[in-house]
Amino acid sequence: MSEPAIPSALSAVDRLVVSLVAGINMRALYGSEHPALASHVDRILEGVSAACQERQRDSLTFLVVGQDLVVETQPLRTGSLYHQQFIRALTRRSVERLTVARGLDAEECVRFLTPMALGGVPVSTRYITVGRVELQPSAIEEGPGPGTGAGGGAGPGGDSAIESLTAQGVDGARDAFTEFRTDRRGGLVRLEQVVWSLMDALQRATREILPLAPLKTHDDYTFVHSVNVSLLTLAQARSFGIEGARLHAIGLAAFLHDIGKLKIPLEVLNKPGKLEGDEWRIMMGHAQEGATHLCGIEGSHPLAILVAYEHHMRHDGQPNYPVPRIGRRPTLASQMTSISDVYDAICTTRPYAKARSREFAVSVLTGRVGTFHSPALVANFVRMVGVAPTGPPDEPAR
Ligand SMILES: [Fe+2]
Ligand SMILES: [Fe+2]
Repeated sequence: MSEPAIPSALSAVDRLVVSLVAGINMRALYGSEHPALASHVDRILEGVSAACQERQRDSLTFLVVGQDLVVETQPLRTGSLYHQQFIRALTRRSVERLTVARGLDAEECVRFLTPMALGGVPVSTRYITVGRVELQPSAIEEGPGPGTGAGGGAGPGGDSAIESLTAQGVDGARDAFTEFRTDRRGGLVRLEQVVWSLMDALQRATREILPLAPLKTHDDYTFVHSVNVSLLTLAQARSFGIEGARLHAIGLAAFLHDIGKLKIPLEVLNKPGKLEGDEWRIMMGHAQEGATHLCGIEGSHPLAILVAYEHHMRHDGQPNYPVPRIGRRPTLASQMTSISDVYDAICTTRPYAKARSREFAVSVLTGRVGTFHSPALVANFVRMVGVAPTGPPDEPAR
């Protein structure tokens, strides 16, 4: 079979789509070792590099939204035959999201093309992440939303949802977080994938979304807390109808909110009891530090930088920390993150304090309505977790 020519006027992303469609078609005709397939696989690998370079990213995510193909929040012109074929190929295998990353090799590429061409379930591998639509309508319909009482106890199927969420979310996050300390760009790509899997897990959860990740050691605290805050914030954002790439950006920003704490010495970070003088100043610096750290990473989402900077700022614009030159209210994603942050910090055993009840955490939040937190967002959150406050306590959040 002669190879179809790819018009050079197309963008690199369009050319990648053409190559993927051709690769799927060729795999339907030839065995996985056949040279005719190998040349198409080479084109796909080149296409991934070129498209990533064009978009100045280490990975690209395609989303199927109805009849449209969206790449990194931008709809592609979907009139072309290849776009339509690509959408059909993805939908046929229930793939609603596909992430391809730099580093993809031929073997992994063929492992993806095979079920796409011949049937079966395409699975996520190191450089290809496949988000499939779960064909369990009842579970999806019962997902948490405003007024559904997400914390009202696990219903039928709820326990397994929590287990898969915990295992996937925590193990993936642990690796990605470790990687992020040493390899900032590569780590960011993996964290992006972890957030997609958290979104998938949340989609599958029937009722119970809390408590989330188990804590193994004290040093684990910051990253376990990051997983929990991401999940809680995703749940809040989803309850407002935010979906897809926007939801992902919010979940990732929440995941990275305390990234500045990576620079705080453990003896300060985990100090039992109250922080004093310089210790408190160092602790407060984590918001600014986190934003600066993220600014230095190519491909960081602006929302992540903003949330890292703003997540301790008050809803009423009064000073907390950091203090911006002009007082202002934090953005919506920062406000949702701030609520998740306070709630999880109180409900999880911290190195310096024992876990308190959910009711206590909700009391802290409701006690800060109108000052630290938005009344509407707290009301939605309280409905979401489905617990009532116990009284009017308060405690400073780190
Ligand atoms: Fe923080
Ligand atoms: Fe936090």
